[in-house]
Amino acid sequence: MSLIPKEVVDQILTQADIAEVVGDFVSLKKKGQNLWANCPFHHEKSPSFSVSPAKGIYKCFGCGKAGNSVQFIMDVEGTSFPEALKYLAKKYGIEVPEDEPNPEYAKEQSERDSLYIVSDFASKHYQHLLHQHEEGSIGQSYLKERGLSNSTIKKFELGYSLDAWSDLTDAALKAGYKQKYLESTGLTIVKEDGKKYDRFRGRVMFPIHNISGRVIGFGARTLKSNDKKSPKYLNSPESDIYHKSNVLYGMYQARQAIRMQDTCYMVEGYLDVLSLHQGGIENVVASSGTSLTEGQIKLIARYTQNITVLYDGDAAGIKASLRGIDLILENGLNVNVVTFPAGEDPDSYIHKVGDEKFKAYVAEHAQDFISFKASLYAEEAKGNPVKKAEAIREIVTSISKIPDPIKRSVFFQSCSLIFDIDEQLLISEYNKMHLQERQQKQQRSGSPEDLAEAEAFEAEQEEIQKPATEADSLKRYEREIVRMLLNYPDKVLVDGQNTCQYMLEQLEDVEFRTPLYARLIEVVKEKLQQGIIPAADDFINYPDQEIRTEATNLLSDPYELSHNWETHQIYVPHESDLLPYGAERAVLRLKWRNVQLLMKSEMEKLRLVTDPAEQDRVLQIIFQLKSFEKQIGDLLGIVVNK
Ligand code: UTP
Ligand code: MN
Repeated sequence: MSLIPKEVVDQILTQADIAEVVGDFVSLKKKGQNLWANCPFHHEKSPSFSVSPAKGIYKCFGCGKAGNSVQFIMDVEGTSFPEALKYLAKKYGIEVPEDEPNPEYAKEQSERDSLYIVSDFASKHYQHLLHQHEEGSIGQSYLKERGLSNSTIKKFELGYSLDAWSDLTDAALKAGYKQKYLESTGLTIVKEDGKKYDRFRGRVMFPIHNISGRVIGFGARTLKSNDKKSPKYLNSPESDIYHKSNVLYGMYQARQAIRMQDTCYMVEGYLDVLSLHQGGIENVVASSGTSLTEGQIKLIARYTQNITVLYDGDAAGIKASLRGIDLILENGLNVNVVTFPAGEDPDSYIHKVGDEKFKAYVAEHAQDFISFKASLYAEEAKGNPVKKAEAIREIVTSISKIPDPIKRSVFFQSCSLIFDIDEQLLISEYNKMHLQERQQKQQRSGSPEDLAEAEAFEAEQEEIQKPATEADSLKRYEREIVRMLLNYPDKVLVDGQNTCQYMLEQLEDVEFRTPLYARLIEVVKEKLQQGIIPAADDFINYPDQEIRTEATNLLSDPYELSHNWETHQIYVPHESDLLPYGAERAVLRLKWRNVQLLMKSEMEKLRLVTDPAEQDRVLQIIFQLKSFEKQIGDLLGIVVNK
């Protein structure tokens, strides 16, 4: 067992609240007795990771990981039991006796623990130098000059490294830390002749924390304003505890605010993070000058689905980084963009205009990424059809990254306005692009992933073209109509017609084949005939149990999308705002499916009839239906198979 006294261990175990502990790492949502989240231990799209506050445990039904608070920290951090206890003790302000270098204890430490511990030593050392050492005053005045307050400096644990060859290395070795770990964290560099020297010298130190607040690496800025010989920033190298592609600077200090605001601001530099944080914008992280990785996006996605990228004000830089954003879209997150006047970065701008004006500026200039990019390209392509075609392809590429088909269709619509072209054109460009991709994939007929992806795409296509079971898809389309009717019965769509009037008129000659939906439609008709626009209550209190239940489901299940979007009304429209569009498409889909079903039964008939005249008649009908199918397909932007 660890050397932490038993009564302290007990105190930690009683005080650690599983929901709080886990909640620092993922966003938990209450559902029934338990809390749920996407599992931090394996990749998944819908939550199978549960936390039971009553039992004090977590369990993932996807990957099987389970345990109490201490186990969770061990799993998430890859640390030993005593290190996990110390983490919890720190979180709950429980005092743990300082550990002395003790061989028995050292045995229990994992390799990673040693790297954490030596990084922590270095961070404390640099902080001490900044605040206590004579030379540290240079660092202090530099930070003051950059407008940072003492409390920001303390909060981010900023430090200073002496302008000397081996100050840190000497101090660490003297305190009993192993050279091996100083080397593997990159703090000490050992030359071929065995000479040791410090990587960071004469620089302001920015420790980089992981999400549980441990120091895992450093960024270090020179104080010289134009020293051509050494880079402005030096950074720690990759190590067992510092994987750059999974780390964002400021995440530890930002994560609560990100969750509360349900948005994450992305900036480029250390100083941008610090200045915004100091100005009261705490939900901010930096990619530290490199392009964004998938790991970093997944890290953000644990806390929010909304990213706002704050760009420095130079156009060339913006265009270069637009591609990186497609990666965010691909991961299903919503992206907004804010640009600053030329020559300003978030840090310089907030100091120039002040906190309040800065916040107002961001609120006013935030624009959804797709529209931002589309406007950028549309502006460039004005009056140049060749450029316009390129621009359209460029935008469609971005839109095609968005996994959610409904979001995609919203953006097709808004971009058709920006480019002043028919929405169908965008959609067919999208279809073309996908078809090409698929063909390329088939030609390469490569790795299992390729195949899996191709299959997934095919499945998606089938969903709109030829669903696995036709009855299922028909049922889905019918359900969608009834769902809209029930949720927005009196919403005026077109020509003063409300949803009920519009749908019933459009679907006059369509027979609902799912009995339950046919009956629900009958109820709507009855009410309308009595001159009443049916309301939710009419269904929820309907005498028939089956109708009551289904209506309740439909009413409590408006689009997941509109649900997500409610908090972001400023940028993205609500489903009800797009209802004229959505209703039209729902009607078309159902008609389209019905035409196909009719066609199928006529084909059957054709096989059975023998009389030539009768055959001719059936063929006529089939051709007629085929042409309907194509017309509707065109309206829906679907590539109809020949
Ligand atoms: P910038 O050059 O935009 O720096 O680099 P900055 O943040 O505005 O720095 P100040 O305001 O002059 O102090 C943005 C980020 O790119 C990384 C750093 O993480 C920096 O914050 N960077 C930059 C490096 O890693 N190395 C460099 O030499 C320069
Ligand atoms: Mn700057």
